[in-house]
Amino acid sequence: MINNSHKRKKMLRNNNNNSKGEKEELEKLTGQQQVYSFKKDASSKLIRLAICLTVFIAGVATGLVSSSQWSTVSLENYSKIYATVRGRDPIINKCSSTSRCETVDCLSLDNIIQPYNLSHDLSDKELVWRASMVPKVVGYPFKRVPKVAFMFLTRGPLPLLPLWERFFAGHEAFFSIYVHTQAGFVFDVSPDSVFFARQVPSKEVSWGDVSLADAEKRLLANALLDFTNERFVLLSESCIPVYDFQTVYKYLTESTHSYVESYDDKTRFGRGRYDRHMRPNIMVDEWRKGAQWFEITRALGVEIISDNKYYHLFRKYCHPPCFPDEHYIPTYLNKFHASGNSNRTLTWVDWSLGGPHPTTFVRENITQAFIENIRNYRNKCWYNSKSINVCYLFARKFAPSALDPLLDLSSKVMGF
Ligand SMILES: *[C@@H]1O[C@H](CO)[C@@H](O)[C@H](O)[C@H]1NC(C)=O
Ligand SMILES: *[C@@H]1O[C@H](CO)[C@@H](O)[C@H](O)[C@H]1NC(C)=O
Ligand SMILES: *[C@@H]1O[C@H](CO)[C@@H](O)[C@H](O)[C@H]1NC(C)=O
Ligand SMILES: *[C@@H]1O[C@H](CO)[C@@H](O)[C@H](O)[C@H]1NC(C)=O
Repeated sequence: MINNSHKRKKMLRNNNNNSKGEKEELEKLTGQQQVYSFKKDASSKLIRLAICLTVFIAGVATGLVSSSQWSTVSLENYSKIYATVRGRDPIINKCSSTSRCETVDCLSLDNIIQPYNLSHDLSDKELVWRASMVPKVVGYPFKRVPKVAFMFLTRGPLPLLPLWERFFAGHEAFFSIYVHTQAGFVFDVSPDSVFFARQVPSKEVSWGDVSLADAEKRLLANALLDFTNERFVLLSESCIPVYDFQTVYKYLTESTHSYVESYDDKTRFGRGRYDRHMRPNIMVDEWRKGAQWFEITRALGVEIISDNKYYHLFRKYCHPPCFPDEHYIPTYLNKFHASGNSNRTLTWVDWSLGGPHPTTFVRENITQAFIENIRNYRNKCWYNSKSINVCYLFARKFAPSALDPLLDLSSKVMGF
């Protein structure tokens, strides 16, 4: 029979005028052969499987008899193995061995809403992932008082700290403070200060390169971990508030916009810093410039830390004289979130003397008239579709020597 079918197959293959019927017959014959050889295969496979099973059962039995620890292989062991792989302490073990979860509710809402302690050993990648989480449920299962996150990006200490402490006093329920310093700098303040234990895990920053934009993202991500923070202000060690806390809080929390300066500078200081390698993701007419000191909503903060694609282009193609901190956020917002941005900054600065750096104000420059001019700016600006003259809530740059005259003027001129 096999011989016969072989002959027929050969014959059919050689026949150039294969009719439909012949094709079907060929398929039938080939099928028969496959069934036949399968039967042969199956019997040998069955024998092999039986041998394997016997060996396996014998192995398990031997293991059971010889290993007294069989019964202790548990979830604990898996968490240990998992932890070893990640190079971390086993989290589950830590919690149960110190009995922390017996005295503290490890899954309590409080622990999720805001971190109990700002210190952590998350990598930037882990931090951003955690901070980018957004609840799907509309509304909150707790009374949420929106807070303003004041994020200080400093090299070392905050020379104007006493002024800020006076500004914050009595409003503890409405703000959070975050301080990013140079790596290794210990931000040492007295335990009764609102700045105490508010330093976030900080890394090395070079002013002018992408590590500065990295630090901004890191600061923002740390502040996003607290679900009660709603507005996010980036400040430097030389910034001061020019209004009292209630005015700043109301201005920010009631605003329908973010405040990121964003403009199209067609000179070599703007478009001149654009690299054509960014095409087609970023085109030259989408390129924007703006001051680094931003004020944004929570929703926008999540978008900014979550973007990798466009940030990567800046990391790769924006080097001095291109500065990522002056172009990345203004360009990204212009491309994707233009309608929610006011395109102006809330931090006053004086560029009138020209040069690469704005004016730094020292002790002798601080007068009542000087501060009042910043508070009631001569040009009006837009706020929630209305024209007002409160354009700036903060100002820079102030030298440490400006502290004393500022403290002397604060209650009389700035309202705190
Ligand atoms: C599993 O964990 C327990 C408790 O930590 C330990 O005594 C046991 O040796 C572990 N077993 C294995 C197979 O690693
Ligand atoms: C936060 O935790 C770190 C260790 O993780 C500890 O050294 C520090 O004292 C804690 N800070 C506070 C304010 O509890
Ligand atoms: C800010 O500029 C964008 C274009 O980048 C524009 O769409 C938006 O309307 C501007 N915002 C305001 C408040 O004018
Ligand atoms: C600030 O004060 C210094 C020292 O008195 C002076 O040289 C400088 O011109 C002043 N700057 C401004 C902008 O008034």
